[in-house]
Amino acid sequence: RHGGGGLKSLPVPTVIGHRGASGYRPEHTFGSYELALDLGADIVEAGDLVPTKDGHLVCRHEPEIGGTTDVADHPEFAGRRTTKVLDGVSTTGWFTEDFTLAELKTLRAVERIPAARQHNTVYDGRWEIPTFEEVLRWQDEQTRRRGRQVWIYPETKHPTYFRKLGLGLEERLTRILRRHGKDGKDSPVIIQSFEPSSIQRLNKLVGNPLVVLLSSAGSRPWDFVEAGDPRTVADLITPKGLEQIASYAQGIGPTLDLVIPRDAQGNLTEPSTLVADAHAAGLILHPWTMRNENTFLPADFRKGTDPTAYGDVFGAFATYFATGIDGVFTD
Ligand code: G3P
Ligand code: CA
Repeated sequence: RHGGGGLKSLPVPTVIGHRGASGYRPEHTFGSYELALDLGADIVEAGDLVPTKDGHLVCRHEPEIGGTTDVADHPEFAGRRTTKVLDGVSTTGWFTEDFTLAELKTLRAVERIPAARQHNTVYDGRWEIPTFEEVLRWQDEQTRRRGRQVWIYPETKHPTYFRKLGLGLEERLTRILRRHGKDGKDSPVIIQSFEPSSIQRLNKLVGNPLVVLLSSAGSRPWDFVEAGDPRTVADLITPKGLEQIASYAQGIGPTLDLVIPRDAQGNLTEPSTLVADAHAAGLILHPWTMRNENTFLPADFRKGTDPTAYGDVFGAFATYFATGIDGVFTD
């Protein structure tokens, strides 16, 4: 442990169940969340948050739900299938913001990648889409049942896109957290986002432990694109950039590649200075994502695509933990 309250009271290295235990159950379901705790996760990423038409927050990785629910099997929703431009990408399917919560509750979750995770498909149709309110009640129940504080790690998804639609995620999230007494810096709810402006807004509104997610070095957060800000992730992870992040966040969630870059052949090279630089700025690091199917992992650490037949997964964790990271997102 780091010692201290809030984020610093977490065990280190912290194991974060990515979309629950999504290697073993359809992601963002209570089956997936609960198994993550059974398998020893310290925190559950519950969930990636997107809004409904009537303003509720639900747990889906993205608003388009064609790949993670049985919506295509519901003839009554056939007319809702549409094409939208989401953060610059044309996307066809069904979108949570076009459904009321009551309508979404008639759907059931299915496995996103059945080809790689065939074993998960036996659970298709078993669980509803969770709301964030339900997650907060589940967190309390699990904390009581397990006799330890269960942490959750929700993410605001596409916040600029939803703000433009009049569905601001941060205000909704803040209201819900306050209602449940889970606002403030000592809350066991860590909020993450790829858009720094969402984290800045949440820092002012609710002050929970906050983490800025970072994609590949050349990428630009979507709020930067919309604002005409030319900075890339590479600019954010300079010592000066990290100091700025530390003025409104407690941590960063970089890709594993930013922690240990790979050469042209895909082999791991020496760790970058990111861990030392982020720690010098007072930021914790929770990189993503450790999983069998992840091409970020070198082939030595993988064994086909069957998560029940990992290769040297302990070697993979040990290699990254040796860099000094504070935890890791894993499926
Ligand atoms: O927060 C780590 C990870 O969740 C970010 O990636 O795409 O799974 O939301 P993604
Ligand atoms: Ca996420």
